[in-house]
Amino acid sequence: MPISFLILFEEKQYIILLLVVGYIIHYYILKNNKFNKDDYHNFLIPRIVPYKIPWIGSAIPYGTNPTKFLSECREKYGNIFTLKLAGKNITFLLDPLVLPLIFKEKNFVFSSFADKIVQQAFSIDKSTTARMSHQARNPQKYLGGENLLKLIENTKIKLVDTILNKIKSNDNFDNKPEWKQGYFYDFIARILWISSTEGFFGKGFAEEDMWNDFYTFDNKFPILISGIPKIFAWSALKSQKKLCQLFTKQRLFRENENEWVTYRSKEFLKIFDQEQFMNIQFSLIWALMANTIPIAFWTIANIISNSHIKMRCEQEIENFTKVDPKTKQINFIELSKFIYIDACINEALRLTSSSLVVREALEDSKIHVEYLNQTYLIKKGETIAFYPPLTHIDSEIYGDDAKEYNPSRFLPNKDGSKKIFMKNGKEVKLHLVPFGGGSSMCPGRHYAREEIKLLVIYCIYYIDFKLHDKIPSIDIKRAGLGVYSPLNDIKFEYRLKYHIQVD
Ligand code: HEM
Repeated sequence: MPISFLILFEEKQYIILLLVVGYIIHYYILKNNKFNKDDYHNFLIPRIVPYKIPWIGSAIPYGTNPTKFLSECREKYGNIFTLKLAGKNITFLLDPLVLPLIFKEKNFVFSSFADKIVQQAFSIDKSTTARMSHQARNPQKYLGGENLLKLIENTKIKLVDTILNKIKSNDNFDNKPEWKQGYFYDFIARILWISSTEGFFGKGFAEEDMWNDFYTFDNKFPILISGIPKIFAWSALKSQKKLCQLFTKQRLFRENENEWVTYRSKEFLKIFDQEQFMNIQFSLIWALMANTIPIAFWTIANIISNSHIKMRCEQEIENFTKVDPKTKQINFIELSKFIYIDACINEALRLTSSSLVVREALEDSKIHVEYLNQTYLIKKGETIAFYPPLTHIDSEIYGDDAKEYNPSRFLPNKDGSKKIFMKNGKEVKLHLVPFGGGSSMCPGRHYAREEIKLLVIYCIYYIDFKLHDKIPSIDIKRAGLGVYSPLNDIKFEYRLKYHIQVD
């Protein structure tokens, strides 16, 4: 506003002008906020947790141990508070009874975070993602129903074949089972690497030793997405480049390839250049393996370390399988019968999955929590998050043994009804949240569970294990990003079970 214009006003007129301008600004802010004046008297304003270093905020204690820090904040500030984390304000809503409302709210989206992660880790920019069709981005149809059965069948064939090759005696002429040595995480990972990639991308897609490159990349994943210059993860970039070569044109469209993969390849080859195409397909391999492998490891390591749990798995396998007298292989009709093994997987997911549920508000939104008679107002552009590990080890929900591995807690009640978990006298429907929720809920969850179940069944049926060390601790550097890896691998011995003969 030119100064000469202000000179025209006397003092009284000047004050009136200021009041009018103030009112107009106030009116527009409220209008753009979509909230009216009354809202501000009733809603809950999350407190910003005090911090000492500007911009950095609480990033150091959060990054060091998120579970400990968030649990301390919850004790001091309650279930809702805001953290300043490296220049960004994130509002944590830690009440599992509020989570269904977050998943239901259409204005809260996961895509802005997914876009950032794929940009940083896989060099796929937002404009590339925006050009993909809905069907190419949303595989629900291809990872469920008949398609899932086909996918599981193809995975199973390779999985059994790989296990048998690993345990068969090499140069033992009387064909007696012999003990072999190895590292347990590596053993599990190699079987899944080869059977999952073959299940999705078709026959003979990858070599087993390529797992080493995947491991190198995945191990540096937290650095890649942290925004630290990529040069600090050069080994990961080298491995990524090698693995991207799996997607040269002449290697595509293999026998038994999953239909979603075929659909995507056809679409993407038309609209993207070779480099973009390879990066996109590589990101799919990452989604497929990165969480499934550690969950399989934690599940099987816990089963074989506890003789009672192992015996119950063996009983279940005996009850629901038949041995083919010719091939000595086991057959079964429905994986859904294996409810104890399913409970073992749930228990591993509960104790070791830590993916942050993170959403951005596209519009000003109200979350009304009926049981508290309170309304949270979340403003457009704000980031909200739910941290599952705090719910997963909540002793009010899971009891005093919440930190222990006890699959029985997930078994149905004696009358066959589903177990109900309670908190504050209310049923907690979302007490186990390893796969996110709402419209972006992990589309690969059914596949991951079925594949891990197959692995458990075949490992327990065929193999005698001797672990040389205790189950390792979790490595918290992946907290918030997915399933924790073990801090170290464990030496073990394995052999074909004595009573089984395979050709
Ligand atoms: C135990 C194994 C797995 C775990 C714990 C897991 C976990 C998750 C989580 C937490 C999300 C984010 C969801 C949200 O915040 O709403 C996600 C997304 C996704 N997952 Fe999984 N996942 C697993 C296995 C798989 C497998 C086997 C695939 C196979 C393709 C897969 C494909 C995807 C894809 C494509 C997305 C992105 C969905 C979107 O952006 O809408 N995941 N997963």
